[in-house]
Amino acid sequence: MSGNRTFTMLKPDAVEKGHTGAILNQINEAGFRIVAMKKTQMTTADAQTFYAIHKERPFFGELVEYMTRGPIVAAILEKDNAVEDFRALIGATNPADAAEGTIRKKYADSISENAIHGSDSDENAEIEGAFHFSGREMF
Ligand code: RTP
Ligand code: MG
Repeated sequence: MSGNRTFTMLKPDAVEKGHTGAILNQINEAGFRIVAMKKTQMTTADAQTFYAIHKERPFFGELVEYMTRGPIVAAILEKDNAVEDFRALIGATNPADAAEGTIRKKYADSISENAIHGSDSDENAEIEGAFHFSGREMF
């Protein structure tokens, strides 16, 4: 059975360019409820841990630099079928391949700087949400 929560980060490029409000509005309009949210900045250790699955990839160093260079907005979102529906809303990893109207198509510049993160499974949504928020913040 699919779960009803996912986790997102508006990445430094999106926040720097002033797209926070527009992206949150699109997320709300798509039917997601914001369960928890904060603006924060990841440390190098945070980003290395969060993206540890990619540590052998050639872009890992660049990814950690990017994700730590400025503030992000982290949020836990709730909706039926949250993980899958949110991945559809953000679009493909490479904005050049993302469908028209998706958040990455509208706000991302490249595969490396692609505006937004969305969890890829219910299990990772839980792990990633717990990475940024404590139990009493998630209601
Ligand atoms: P995310 O985890 O951030 O939601 O992105 P995703 O699932 O669509 O893509 P993933 O394969 O998990 O990659 C994580 C992030 O690494 C950066 N990346 N750069 N230069 C490159 O070839 C490359 N490939 C991936 C992107 O920021 C991507 O979102
Ligand atoms: Mg991913």
